[in-house]
Amino acid sequence: MCGIVGYIGPKDAYPILIKGLHRLEYRGYDSAGVSLINQSGSLVVYKAKGKVAALEAAAEEKDISGTIGIAHTRWATHGEPNTTNAHPHYSQSHSLSLVHNGIIENYKTLRTELEKNGMTFQSETDTEVLVQLIEYLQTTHHCDLITAVHLALKNVIGAYAIAILDKRNPNQLIAARKGSPLVIGVGKGNETAAPGEAEFFLGSDATPIIEYTNQVIYLQDEEIALLNRNGKQLITNLESVQQTPQLVTLQMNLDELEKGGYAHFMLKEIFEQPNAIRNCLRGRIDRDTLSIKLKGVDESKDRLLTARRIIICACGTSWHAALIGKYFIEEAAKIPVDVEYASEFRYRNPVIDKDDVVIAISQSGETADTLAAIQLAQSHGCFVYGICNVVGSSIARATDSGTFIHVGPEIGVASTKAFTGQLVSLIMFGLALAKEKKTLSETLYHEIINDLTLIPEKMQQTLDNSKGIEQFAKIFTYCKNCIYLGRGYNYPVALEGALKLKEISYIHAEGYPAAEMKHGPIALVDEEMPVVVIAPRRGMYEKIVSNIQEIKSRNGRILSIVTEGDTQVKNMSDFCIEVPDTRDSFAPLLSVIPLQLLSYHIAVAKGRNVDQPRNLAKSVTVE
Ligand code: F6R
Repeated sequence: MCGIVGYIGPKDAYPILIKGLHRLEYRGYDSAGVSLINQSGSLVVYKAKGKVAALEAAAEEKDISGTIGIAHTRWATHGEPNTTNAHPHYSQSHSLSLVHNGIIENYKTLRTELEKNGMTFQSETDTEVLVQLIEYLQTTHHCDLITAVHLALKNVIGAYAIAILDKRNPNQLIAARKGSPLVIGVGKGNETAAPGEAEFFLGSDATPIIEYTNQVIYLQDEEIALLNRNGKQLITNLESVQQTPQLVTLQMNLDELEKGGYAHFMLKEIFEQPNAIRNCLRGRIDRDTLSIKLKGVDESKDRLLTARRIIICACGTSWHAALIGKYFIEEAAKIPVDVEYASEFRYRNPVIDKDDVVIAISQSGETADTLAAIQLAQSHGCFVYGICNVVGSSIARATDSGTFIHVGPEIGVASTKAFTGQLVSLIMFGLALAKEKKTLSETLYHEIINDLTLIPEKMQQTLDNSKGIEQFAKIFTYCKNCIYLGRGYNYPVALEGALKLKEISYIHAEGYPAAEMKHGPIALVDEEMPVVVIAPRRGMYEKIVSNIQEIKSRNGRILSIVTEGDTQVKNMSDFCIEVPDTRDSFAPLLSVIPLQLLSYHIAVAKGRNVDQPRNLAKSVTVE
């Protein structure tokens, strides 16, 4: 939530900052702003309500010169999304400007104190307190800016990633983080660089940086960075002790950040799934011996094999993946698995044993609740295994071991390829454990792995079969509510299908285990209510046929997802989409694809902003 970009170096800062904001817009799009120290030495701030394009329009006639700047795209927490509350915020004297991602929990107390001491505030944000506090401490302690930043951050409760400009010192950029991510790019400069002149970039993630350098430092919690134009970079902790940063080479490809000819990132990401899953499997499945090699499991065998139970913590779509993971791991490795919403787990005093293993699943690796659940588990002595997409993310770094899903950057706010990548990673995890625990026969183990290798091709066939969805979607555009039903492995797919529809089309939708319908929800069914039923041939096919019958006899309209060649459910359905046959436990990997496409086409037909749905942000770094 909220994106931060920063630059200091020989180049013009503004175009770099704006391009960076576009890359980070998925993190929030309530407002955008930029601050520069321009050629004449003025500290300027330009901001606009809405998207980065609105900021560009607002800055059109303005002086956007300068080789140092910070910028922000906001997902509002404190204060409505308007220009005043947009970042960057000035300090009272207008000497400093600051951008922030996170929440300052004690901002009210700090603000009251500062107001008593004569500071005045322009906005309703928690962020403005930070910049005012820093200025106040600098003035009252007669110290330099970096010392004032240390003093201020020691007084702050909450989460922050910040970047600060000081008009009096155009040669330095200050950044700090706790609980919210911040990456420093170490650039190469260009021909306009003076001898010894360096360049640094800042980003909430690496996407604004990769174009210029692949050398990055992931700032750690409670670290403060002083980045100087002369190349000096000083990283200290809150106690002012110098830290030794680790320079990491990014493995990211610029093409992955573009739409590549697709109308939306979401559509591109749906279509990327066959290749994304190939990448997820690469190096982990040995096709000759039909065996799985997961480094994370190998490295932590002792802890994993002695686990009394596994608790999976996640949010949203990742939580749906966790539910499917539970079914698979219990079936294959015979370990009890509990699935928890991270936001509930962290606050409800759960019974946690040091011999439990916690799996944290997160695409972004930055979800605040999941991170807090990890910390809670670790404080009970649990071993925590991460399943993340973003390399270098907070969750990837906080977990004791783990697997990256390697599906490439996911930019559309609605998660698609990360979901299937998470499923495949959970399946590989379950299989690796099953092998060690000898809970599957050799024959079945090899058979399952063989089936897994066929999934990318079957995903491609599913995509090819789904061409008609755009037509159904037009009909569904007019519905106000929708029910999704599935059983067994496909029950979480029903939840996921309903979430996809809600979040991008704003149509109310609910997912249920099909058999639960008669315990209440069937009262909702009438000719106005579309019911999407996931009914592949394997699993509880006959049972779901009966459930469909119950809906049909109440005039419900059925859209079914069936196995290729099915006639029984197809004949009972108003609309039908076929997916290739696979084993029951792998059905979600295919059945979710038509549901992703259905939501996508409905949202497009309704004229929604598919990649940036209202009120949402890709990375939920506040609780
Ligand atoms: C839905 C969606 C969200 C995320 C959730 C967790 O399409 O994207 O529900 O799944 O916010 O995010 P991560 O996986 O980044 O922890």
